Amino acid sequence: MSEKLPKDFLWGFATGKSSIRVKYEAFCQERPKFRPTASYQIEGSANEGGRGPSIWDTFTRVEGKIRDGSTGDVATDSYRLWKEDIALLKSYGVKSYRISLSWSRIIPLGGRHDPVNPEGIQFYRDFIKELLVNDIVPFLTLYHWDLPQALHDRYLGWLNKEEIIKDYVRYAQVCFESFGDLVKHWLTHNEPWCVAVLGYGTGVFAPGRCSDRARSAEGDSSREPWIVAHHLILAHAYTVKLYREQFAASQGGEIGITLNTNWYLPYDDKAENIAAAKRAVQVYLGWYAEPIYKGDYPSVLKDMIGDRLPHFTDEEKAVIRDSSDFFGLNTYTTHLTLEGGDNEWNGKVKTTHTKPDGTQLGTQSAAPWLQTYGPGLHHLLNYIWKTYKKPIYITENGFAVQNEDKMSIETAIQDKDRLEYYRDYTQALLDASREGVDIKGYFGWSLLDNFEWADGYTIRFGVTYVDYKTQKRYPKESSKFLVQWFKEHVEA
Ligand code: NOJ
Repeated sequence: MSEKLPKDFLWGFATGKSSIRVKYEAFCQERPKFRPTASYQIEGSANEGGRGPSIWDTFTRVEGKIRDGSTGDVATDSYRLWKEDIALLKSYGVKSYRISLSWSRIIPLGGRHDPVNPEGIQFYRDFIKELLVNDIVPFLTLYHWDLPQALHDRYLGWLNKEEIIKDYVRYAQVCFESFGDLVKHWLTHNEPWCVAVLGYGTGVFAPGRCSDRARSAEGDSSREPWIVAHHLILAHAYTVKLYREQFAASQGGEIGITLNTNWYLPYDDKAENIAAAKRAVQVYLGWYAEPIYKGDYPSVLKDMIGDRLPHFTDEEKAVIRDSSDFFGLNTYTTHLTLEGGDNEWNGKVKTTHTKPDGTQLGTQSAAPWLQTYGPGLHHLLNYIWKTYKKPIYITENGFAVQNEDKMSIETAIQDKDRLEYYRDYTQALLDASREGVDIKGYFGWSLLDNFEWADGYTIRFGVTYVDYKTQKRYPKESSKFLVQWFKEHVEA
């Protein structure tokens, strides 16, 4: 095995969406309280380009949902500053950039019988072409959480099997037809676990449905996240089927999905905690990975959820089995795991970052769920390779420095904890690669500080500092580290 990563290894950065805006006055008139916003993590400019509203536009208007009361209305203003963003990527020497398309920018009202927005198509074509001119490979995600609001209003979006799958596949088809001559790497969904659990279980993400409450009121465990996940998996699979049958050969591209998971270490050597750690990954990741790579939900999940877990017909199983050309992985941290939780979405385990001796597993980030622990990535890569036998793209990995939002720019760009995080995680990547795990790419999250969903702008993940008052970008030390690291570790 080579000491270095192969020459065609793709490395770069990822961000949320690249643009959005629209004239949706007609839509807004029907919804008098609705005010236009931009989509979502980086774009801003809510009222240009023909884009329709998404569920995040609506959700950020609900009081108390976003920690600092902010919205994505301006974000990093990347709809206007996209050429500067690409110049920044170029200055970092990246090989690839992972962005998501805005469904409601391409089909403002979302549905299969609704009109396509030519301005949206043009914007993305210009954007993608500019990447290619700069030798940056576009890695495109179709769905990064911003469902067109109209689809939620019409038929409850992801809860409606008959409608949403057809509408999603049609949206994907428009994207393959419009950009497939330029794009060779496609992702269907970003982190479906988050869509299902945070959007329909705990309600902390759009559309803010909260099955937890239903559970206490009805004495039943929640159903909606299982239903939504089921439809996300089917929409993914039918999209891949379409791409493989009609586009893959002529356009010469690959398509897959990006799943998120943590690594789970047993808290100590008690047998029950060892079993809990194993179960956590089997449920958290297996909920999606087992159907997509092997054709059905894992038995541990079926046993736990019983008849609340929807099932796939034989015909559906044939479509979902092996419906991803690669394994797209978003991963940030490791949890110490104990038996005894009641949260089904995590496999009913308890997790902590505090070790039995009272010390911490790693360096604490600004997000409570994230501590640095590089060896966890090493374990996880080996686990995925052994279990699913697919080449892996690490499509997100990154760290939010504590209190970075309160620091001066001069201090914030000295982001030592983020740099150390990347040092540990790139080492893990290299270790796994040297052992023979087939890793084809790595994307740091994120190119820029941006709108961090329910945390608004209070948490910064960027390797580039964004001064939201001026929209000026300032490279942080971590960006320099990654640029140098990939220079040294990818074969020339
Ligand atoms: C997961 C998501 O894909 C991304 O949108 C988010 O900002 C990061 N991870 C950090 O939480």
